[in-house]
Amino acid sequence: MHTATMMDVSGLRSRLAAHGQEHLLQFWDVLTEGQKKSLYNELNELDLDETCGFFKRTVASLNEEQTKLDERMQPIPAEMHGSVTRTPLEKINDYEEAGLREVSEGRVGVLLLAGGQGTRLGVSYPKGMYDVKLPSGKTLYQLQAERLRRLQTLAEEKFGKSGVIPWYIMTSEHTKEPTMDFFARHSYFGLEKEDLVVFEQGMLPCFSFDGKIILEQPYKLARAPDGNGGLYRALREKNVLEDMERRGIKYLHVYCVDNILVKMADPIFIGYCLSKGADCGAKVVEKAFPTEAVGVVCKVDGIYQVVEYSEITLKTAQKRNPDGRLTFSAGNICNHYFTVEFLKNVVYDYECSMMHHVAKKKITMVTPEGKVVKPEKPNGIKMEKFVFDVFQFSNTLAVWEVIREDEFAPLKNGDGAEKDTPTTCRHALFSLHHRYLLNAGGTLIDSEGEPLPLIPSPAAAPKCPTFENGNTDFNYNDNQKEMRWDECPVVVEISPLVSYAGEGLDELVANKKFTCPLQLTDRLPKKTEA
Ligand code: UTP
Repeated sequence: MHTATMMDVSGLRSRLAAHGQEHLLQFWDVLTEGQKKSLYNELNELDLDETCGFFKRTVASLNEEQTKLDERMQPIPAEMHGSVTRTPLEKINDYEEAGLREVSEGRVGVLLLAGGQGTRLGVSYPKGMYDVKLPSGKTLYQLQAERLRRLQTLAEEKFGKSGVIPWYIMTSEHTKEPTMDFFARHSYFGLEKEDLVVFEQGMLPCFSFDGKIILEQPYKLARAPDGNGGLYRALREKNVLEDMERRGIKYLHVYCVDNILVKMADPIFIGYCLSKGADCGAKVVEKAFPTEAVGVVCKVDGIYQVVEYSEITLKTAQKRNPDGRLTFSAGNICNHYFTVEFLKNVVYDYECSMMHHVAKKKITMVTPEGKVVKPEKPNGIKMEKFVFDVFQFSNTLAVWEVIREDEFAPLKNGDGAEKDTPTTCRHALFSLHHRYLLNAGGTLIDSEGEPLPLIPSPAAAPKCPTFENGNTDFNYNDNQKEMRWDECPVVVEISPLVSYAGEGLDELVANKKFTCPLQLTDRLPKKTEA
């Protein structure tokens, strides 16, 4: 039978017209039968009321007068804003022990946000598959898988009970298949296949500024994932919370794919949040300088929120406490703790009321003449929810501040960009692992047998005043010899299977000297031992 005769095109046309979207059929007469069928199905499955409703609500909020939030903001109360640098070691050990206990009992899960399109990095495959050129060639996904394995071992060694940390991976239309294939091809990097739960977030059509859904091809809509806050809808629609409950998971660590230093299911963070009885937790780094473009975790009218730099005046951004620290210093790094109970409330009761945000983007589109063009300037809107939008529903939110250099180095851009590149990520990891080595009593030496200096991580760059001017040079030794961190000779990579966060290295490296490149895999590489 002729496909077109099975389609109620005039019914579809009038439904589209009722929402001002009849242009979506403008190429109908020149489409092939296959293209007609594909477009018809796509449009038929689209909930026009909902999609156009989202658009109206989103742009309405955009058009509201954007008053600054300064007067309405309060910092997170001091007793709920812990910091790794201001907490005695014994207390940190207590937190860690509590977190490890939960891991050993099988009550902790991790959830990776991996549905982004990674447009700035500019690769056609999921960011987690990216290799920043470590000596081992490990990808972000592999580093994360191995950290999980090591943490499970640590918890088991401590409590004699082996708990599994299930790994939930939120993907999107573009990243799901390649991610699943990649893990299968690599035998799940030693994890059990059933402990990985890969699910897909939703996609939403992109709109022109005047409210028309954009066609990417004459027979296909332009669509984009609905933001990392699409998590909550996906948790509901893909029955992911049911899976967590079935496994007895009570606490979840949610994080972004691109932070090469991420401490997955960090037991210290989990133990801290537990000690505060928090339903929600945010791991943060101290804002490096007042004008740094990072969202801050705070309260607005008594409700937890992440406030962007653009939403406050410079005066508030510069405000300081009597001790000299910035009042609004809790820099959000998309690294969160949630109880599963809290997520259940959000997902079933509040998700629908969460607003989308507008992202103005360059969206590939087809012109009325049928030509597909990639615009030079933003030509439309993607609608996104953010993962931290749920803070507003928290009763007790705890903030845990960590050292940026130790825990945060995101991969956002390709090499050549000013920051957050494969090179900065690689060096951040080398610098951290060099510190692990030094702390465990080992030394790195150069070809003359001289100890190599500790080169700060590029992540520490914003701390240094000169970096505010975009100058990424620093003095690296007492001779005032200048060296850029990206020319630094330190190359140290410690497998996560050997050490999760610097522990257990003494017996391998104490009182030993090593030359670069140094790779600590399961066994000590004899040839690098000096
Ligand atoms: P970013 O906002 O940095 O976006 O995502 P991105 O997709 O990685 O990169 P660009 O902006 O296109 O260059 C932060 C985190 O949120 C996830 C990403 O995968 C990343 O871990 N994310 C983003 C999603 O899971 N879904 C989305 O719809 C958007």
